[in-house]
Amino acid sequence: MRPRESVVNILGIETSCDETAVGIVTDGRDVACSVIASQVDLHARFGGVVPELASRAHTELVNVVLAQALVEAGMDLSALSAVAACAGPGLAGALLVGVAAAKSLALVLDVPYVAVNHMEGHLYAAFLEEPELAPPMVVLLVSGGHTMIVHMTDHGRYRILGETVDDAAGEAFDKVARLLGLGYPGGPAIDSLGARGNAEAVRFPRPMLDEGYDFSFSGLKTAVLVHWTQEGAAAEADVAASFQEAAVDVLVTKLFRAAEEFAAPTVVIGGGVAANSRLRERVLDEAERRGLRAVVPSAAMCTDNGAMIAAAAFRVLEREGPSSLGSGATPGLRLAGRPR
Ligand code: KG4
Ligand code: ZN
Repeated sequence: MRPRESVVNILGIETSCDETAVGIVTDGRDVACSVIASQVDLHARFGGVVPELASRAHTELVNVVLAQALVEAGMDLSALSAVAACAGPGLAGALLVGVAAAKSLALVLDVPYVAVNHMEGHLYAAFLEEPELAPPMVVLLVSGGHTMIVHMTDHGRYRILGETVDDAAGEAFDKVARLLGLGYPGGPAIDSLGARGNAEAVRFPRPMLDEGYDFSFSGLKTAVLVHWTQEGAAAEADVAASFQEAAVDVLVTKLFRAAEEFAAPTVVIGGGVAANSRLRERVLDEAERRGLRAVVPSAAMCTDNGAMIAAAAFRVLEREGPSSLGSGATPGLRLAGRPR
């Protein structure tokens, strides 16, 4: 048993897009609670996230979610050692709600405030489910706004090997889903429809497959559009499955190319698209084939949540100390870390 005074409970607030989420993590690895209020119903009729509506909903929901998180964790505010928020990347107004809430709480409780990068949060979600996970590793981060392969050599030491040059992977899933009339959010819809289709029905392009670690999904989306307009609405499950296979093919090929080039024993995936069944299956299969370790967090830990922010905050606090209460939200925040 660790002595009581060494317990570090960090509360993490995530409001970068359309989920109002609060999680509490103990000692950087044990999830005491993870409460998520989704705004999907609010945005669905518009076919995507409406930033102003998202900010207002976060304002209404953040205190309710916070209260529920404390109840689920069986803690009161005095148990908190630090309060963290996602400070970017994300929607400016939405981010500000979580940042303001976290800073106010930290000020009142007289505990450190920690500003966390959303993508670092997605990366640290893997550590919550595999506590003995340790760098070096290569990480595929795939969300609605970002797609990147990161070489992580130590905690806080990241090198972005490649990123998307146009659409993010999740954006491509969402746009193709809209084209097929599957509504928003599109990723889960393509995932379940694709499971019933033939992934070899249409040979869609695999953009930039042989070119380094950057990605391009815009041309793939256009290829689906052209096919769909020419062939009509028949066999939509086959189109969904074939699109998904092309996207996953590119993601998996580049992830394992990076693992090979950098001799990384471990591959990790994170971000909303990492909840995709086919991507998860392919990553696990390929890792087994190559004798590598693959860490594929549960789907709930891949999509946006507050626990991942708290988990990353534990490490940020350890290496950089508290963030300034004068710091704000940065919509275009980059995954930095110290240079290698
Ligand atoms: O990380 P996330 O929850 O929010 C952002 O940071 O953007 O990722 C959301 C993205 C959306 O584009 C959504 O369609 C996609 O993740 N997504 C999926 C699946 N679940 C969520 N994409 C493919 N298959 C899924 N099962
Ligand atoms: Zn995310």
